[in-house]
Amino acid sequence: MKKKILIAAALPYANGSLHLGHVAGLIGSDVLARYFRIKGDDVLFVSGSDCYGTPIVFEAEKQNSTPSSIAEKYHQEFQETLIDGMNFSYDFYTKTTSKEHHKTVQKIFTKLFNDGYIYKKTENLPYCPSCEKFLPDRYIEGKCYLCGFDSARGDQCDNCGNLMNTKELIKPKCKTCENTPKWKSSEHFFLKLTSLEKDLKKWVKESKGWRIGAKNFTFQLLLQGLHDRSITRDTLWGVPVPIKGYERKKIYVWFEAVCGYLSASKEWSKKIGKDKEWEKYWKNKNAIHYYVHGKDNIPFHSIIWPSILLGYKNLHLPDRIISSEYLTLEKKQLSKSRNWAIWIPDFLKNFDCDTLRYYLIANGSETSDSDFSWNEFSSRTNNELIGNFGNYIYRVLSFIEKNFKEGVSFSDDISPQSHKFLALAEKTFPKTSILIEEGKFRKALQEIFKLAEEGNRFIDNAKPWATIKENPKKAEKDLAVAAHIVKCISILINPFLPTTSEEIHIQLGEDFSDIKWEYPLNKKIKPSKTKPIYKKIEKELIEEELSKLKKQSTEK
Ligand code: 2FM
Ligand code: ZN
Repeated sequence: MKKKILIAAALPYANGSLHLGHVAGLIGSDVLARYFRIKGDDVLFVSGSDCYGTPIVFEAEKQNSTPSSIAEKYHQEFQETLIDGMNFSYDFYTKTTSKEHHKTVQKIFTKLFNDGYIYKKTENLPYCPSCEKFLPDRYIEGKCYLCGFDSARGDQCDNCGNLMNTKELIKPKCKTCENTPKWKSSEHFFLKLTSLEKDLKKWVKESKGWRIGAKNFTFQLLLQGLHDRSITRDTLWGVPVPIKGYERKKIYVWFEAVCGYLSASKEWSKKIGKDKEWEKYWKNKNAIHYYVHGKDNIPFHSIIWPSILLGYKNLHLPDRIISSEYLTLEKKQLSKSRNWAIWIPDFLKNFDCDTLRYYLIANGSETSDSDFSWNEFSSRTNNELIGNFGNYIYRVLSFIEKNFKEGVSFSDDISPQSHKFLALAEKTFPKTSILIEEGKFRKALQEIFKLAEEGNRFIDNAKPWATIKENPKKAEKDLAVAAHIVKCISILINPFLPTTSEEIHIQLGEDFSDIKWEYPLNKKIKPSKTKPIYKKIEKELIEEELSKLKKQSTEK
């Protein structure tokens, strides 16, 4: 039976270009979507640009522009970067400024309000007397009262990841003018997490298949106990509160952004002309929902969004939370403000997308932080991707093309080594299936690369360049086995390196549109137009990149 799989990739803030850290946290979403599609399941892969919130207002002030043009500018850029550049195969990529999103968010807000899960309360809020405005979370900085980090924000501490209660920040300051905020009363709406806590705890305990980091952090938060959270703000930029008399207030970006997965699904339904199609994913107990994002997004996907869904009722809750740990750059924390980052649009000017996909998956920060370094990138590309993987494919296919004009045919009478090798390839399918479905992409990729490694050994032992002279029939048999493994690899690698997969299909003369996640039938293989898949990365280029990085960070 075909399953319905929803893949929900975090909506990046439209306040600046995407860097390596963003893609590192998101790449798994595309692996999952591509894998389930060729396995034959129905996939709905959604994401979008997160256009509201103070980061965008900040950026607009900085660039002397408006929040809406900043959001639109980066929304366009994100689509180019993610879809055309990184080859992410979204079924729908939305933006939170879309009409459908507003409608979805307001509908959820209204229902939760009517059902008592959202209530109004007057509270004292930070107000900056010199800027004469209420200060949204991100406009306040102070010392984290939990870990002592100096620049925790009003809503979250970037050092320990905990959500902050703004009032408890030590020595709070207005980020714009550095004055100490005062507290002033204003009426706001609160999400009643305390009344959803019991159901939420039960759900967290019963859920399986999350990344360990997500589970541990969520347990820790639940242990501390949940508090009702204010979910509206006094700001101009956001989705208006849909309650009469309160339209000037806006819905807090985190409450609103997570609803984007549902809005994108609805928009997709409309796009394909089947208005109710989204219900097959969201009102279906048997669907499987994957959420893919970076570590700092965990509480919003494991606490806030599930609470909203529990209160709203009858919509599918998250199944697998695939959150990544951090990626550092040359062992230092990535930072937009210090310009210590590699921007994806820049990266793609000089390097192929699959080389980056390979690095970020093979070196994925799945259970602990990982690092990007230019030297490591070049050695992984040159040694693993080209030296092992690409080399196997090229040496097999080019040798056949050169020496067997009619291609090579499979024979039943093959050596025990050949049998063993084919059995290994066959087993690699179910083995990697399990790993991918569990979000263990790094290990899955290792299994596929092991096959290429084994292949290189197989060819070294079979020595077709010698046997072709003494025993051409044996050479053909061995090469048919080796080429069959190339075919297996061309399928197995598809979710990870889609361009590579397509290129191998072309060289094999196979129909790429027909690709299926299963051990293929043995048949005659007649490669053509064989050529190496990747270009070696030269030392000079890496040195240039390294000095560019150092230069850009000192210029800022
Ligand atoms: O961390 C971020 O970039 C957030 N904009 C992620 C939002 S994910 C979800 F809420 F949609
Ligand atoms: Zn902290």
